[in-house]
Amino acid sequence: MLYPLKRHVVLTLSMILFQKRINAAPRGGAVSSCQKQRPCRKLVIFMDNNHEESLFAVQRRSGDIRTTVYWELSSAKGNAETSDDIHRMDQRDIAEAAAMLRNGGTVAFPTETVYGLGADARNTQAVEAVFAAKGRPSDNPLIVHIADLDALDELVTEVHPVAVALMEAYWPGPLTLVLPLRPDVLSPLVSAGLDTVGVRIPDHPVARALIRAAGCPVAAPSANRSGRPSPTLASHVMDDLTGYIGGVLDGGAAGVGLESTVVQVQPDGSVSVLRPGGITAEQLSAVSGAGTVDSTSAEALDFTRKEAASMPSDAAGLNAADGELPASAADKNPAPRAPGMKYTHYAPRGWLGVVRGSSPLRVAERAASLLQAAQLNGEITGLLLFDEHIALYPAVPAACVTSLGSLDSPEEAARSLYAALRRFDEAGATYILAEACPVTGLGAAIMNRLMKAAGGTLIDAG
Ligand code: TXA
Ligand code: MG
Repeated sequence: MLYPLKRHVVLTLSMILFQKRINAAPRGGAVSSCQKQRPCRKLVIFMDNNHEESLFAVQRRSGDIRTTVYWELSSAKGNAETSDDIHRMDQRDIAEAAAMLRNGGTVAFPTETVYGLGADARNTQAVEAVFAAKGRPSDNPLIVHIADLDALDELVTEVHPVAVALMEAYWPGPLTLVLPLRPDVLSPLVSAGLDTVGVRIPDHPVARALIRAAGCPVAAPSANRSGRPSPTLASHVMDDLTGYIGGVLDGGAAGVGLESTVVQVQPDGSVSVLRPGGITAEQLSAVSGAGTVDSTSAEALDFTRKEAASMPSDAAGLNAADGELPASAADKNPAPRAPGMKYTHYAPRGWLGVVRGSSPLRVAERAASLLQAAQLNGEITGLLLFDEHIALYPAVPAACVTSLGSLDSPEEAARSLYAALRRFDEAGATYILAEACPVTGLGAAIMNRLMKAAGGTLIDAG
C-alpha cells in the first residue's frame, strides 16, 4: 500500500486504518500517571522542508521512495506467530518488505530485542540511507542480521571455539558476536572501516522470515533517530522515522525491550562485553567459564566518574534528540571497543538524572525534594521508579510518574524502559529523575541504558 507524499502535509489515516491507542504500554508493561498527548495510533506520512534537501536526498539516491509503507502483521493484532507459523497474509506483507530490501530500500522490522531498521548490508546506497534516516555518525558500525548459521561463513573469516559455543547456546537470540570480517563482502559503511563485523541471528519469526525472503545479510541498527530511546513498538519507529524510510513491519511489542549484548571473544577465549544487553554476564559465564567475562569495557558498572549535578545546569549537553552527542563520561575513555558506546543514547528530550542511595527511603526523600525544587523552578517533572517504592513518595511527586514494575521482575523493567522514557517526552517533561536498580542480571543492561540516557549523571542520595 503506497501513499503519495505531499509536501508539508501530515496525512493522518487513523480514522481509516487504526483505532488502537498509539502509546499503549508494552505487554505486562509499566504503570504510568502521565497524560498521553497523542491519543490515536496514526500513520503519518510527512516531510518537512529542512529535511528534504539533506536526508531525503540520500533516500532518493538509494532508490527509496518518499513514502513509508505500513504493514500490520498478525502479531501486532495479538495473534502469536511462531517460526513455523507465519500467517498467510503476513507472508505476503513480508514478501513485499523483502522485495523493498532487495531493491535497496530501508525497512523497519520487529526483533525480539527492539525494532531494527534494515538494509541490504552489501548495498552501500541502502546502508547510507539507514545512516541518513537515523542521523547516525558514520563511525558507528551496524550489526548484520542473518537468518541461519549457514550465512555466517560468507561474512567472516574465523570463529573462536568459545564464540561457537556462545552461538550454540544463545542463537537465535539477543547476542551479537563481533567477528573478523571477510574482505569485500559487505558495504564498507556497515563496519565503519573496522576489520570486524557484529553478527546476530534474531529470535523473532518475522525478522528471520524477512531476512530469508530478502536473501541477503541485513544491516540493522535500532530503528530510532540517533540519540532517542530505541523503539519497542512500531509506533515508536513511526514517530521517529516515518517519511524517512521505505516501510515498517508492525509485529507488535518487542519481547526483551533492550538491545542485544555485544561481545567479542579474545584470542585467549575470554569474553569482552562491549555492550550489556539481553544476554546477561551470568549467562555468558555459564558457557565460557567462570571468571572469563569482562564487562568493564562496556562502562556498564562505572558510575563513579560523574557524580551528581542535582539541577539541570548541564542539561544543554544532554538534549540529544536530533543527533548523537559525545557523552561527557565517555570523553575520558575515547576508544571504547563498541564505537556506539561513546555516544549519548536512549535519551528523553528532558534532562535526566539517576538517583541511587544506601536505602530506597533515602533515594525517595532526595528525589522528592529535588523534584519539588525543580517544579518550583518551573520545570515539568518526571519520575521513573519501581512499584515497591511508590509508597515512599508524597502523593504526587512529579507531573509524570512511571513505574518500571516490580524490582523482582527485571524482565518487565527491560521491556518497559524505552516506552517509559518516550512517555516523558509525550508529557513534555523537562526534569526527570530515575531510581537506580541493582546491577545484577538484566539490571546491568537497564542501568547501562539509564546512565547513557542520563549522560552519566548520577545523584548520590547518601
Ligand atoms: O538488539 C540489537 O542489537 C538491535 C536489533 C535491531 O538487532 N540492534 C542494535 O543496533 O542495537 P545498534 O546499531 O543500535 O547498536 C549496535 C552496537 C553499537 O554500539 C555498535 O558500536 C556496536 O554494536 N558494534 C557494531 N559492530 C561492531 C564492531 N564491528 N565492533 C564493535 N562494536 C560494534
Ligand atoms: Mg541503537
